[in-house]
Amino acid sequence: MTLVPGLDILALARAGRYGVGAFNTNNMETTQAILETADEARSPVIVALSEGALSYGGKQLVDIVKVMGSEVTVPVSVHLDHGSSYESCLRALRHGFTSVMIDKSHEDEETNIAETRRVVAAAHAVGITVEAEIGRLGGIEEHVVVAEEEAILTKPDEAERFMARSGADYLAVAIGTSHGANKGKGRPFIDHDRIVEIAARIDHPLVMHGASGVPREIVARLNRAGGTLKDATGIHEDDVSRAVTEGIAKINTDTDLRLAFTARVREVLSAKPGEFDPRKILGPAREEMKAVIRSRMELFGSVGKA
Ligand code: 13P
Repeated sequence: MTLVPGLDILALARAGRYGVGAFNTNNMETTQAILETADEARSPVIVALSEGALSYGGKQLVDIVKVMGSEVTVPVSVHLDHGSSYESCLRALRHGFTSVMIDKSHEDEETNIAETRRVVAAAHAVGITVEAEIGRLGGIEEHVVVAEEEAILTKPDEAERFMARSGADYLAVAIGTSHGANKGKGRPFIDHDRIVEIAARIDHPLVMHGASGVPREIVARLNRAGGTLKDATGIHEDDVSRAVTEGIAKINTDTDLRLAFTARVREVLSAKPGEFDPRKILGPAREEMKAVIRSRMELFGSVGKA
């Protein structure tokens, strides 16, 4: 089916109190894993490309995602993750993305609103919907490194003002999560009261970045096969399923796919040192990512919603 605007998928998710995965891709195998799993699970899905993914895979990667995305029979949106500028969002619109994020969360509120408004005007003119962010997540984003002490949680009154003035369609909120494989010591604190308060003030779908679970068994396998990942921690599954019932509709997942991919590639290469057929190395990695995506979709409650 044709690709759909992000809001078409996310408005249903917010109203139905389930979450939809926005899975990041960089290559053909990851794209196949995301879309094949969505089709098999009858789940709507968002395929996210960051600016880093675009400079790695170029127009060819976008073409792969668009062609594969329009061949599956569930609703798919192709999304620009963390667009850093108006120009970057415009390029994505021209490439045929059906959802864009403008991330000016590190600017002051007025600048964030003004820049978001520009992107909203352009995107809405061609029927595409927009994600914006207010507050600041810790960890590493594509174009900005935010130290833990600089991370600022989203204030409910600011969120309400921001959505009324910016015209954005869905809002990324800082509620305790952070990007990457190390989300803090022990079980990271997720501010559920804050999600509930924000959701009470705005009906827009809310977005949780930095939501990977960083499964222990996958990290252990990766390390057993020669990896050196230390202090890896993710967001607890109970926090994700609770957040979904509180108003989070879009859940970004990148790190879990990278971990699954790398763990399996390491295992294959160490078990079969003579192997040099890329299909026999990347094929199992694709299967590993599919298993992770399936379990994420089950956790979000999106299985069977398409
Ligand atoms: P993770 O690093 O937790 O997978 O988060 C990815 C993300 O939020 C991309 O925008």
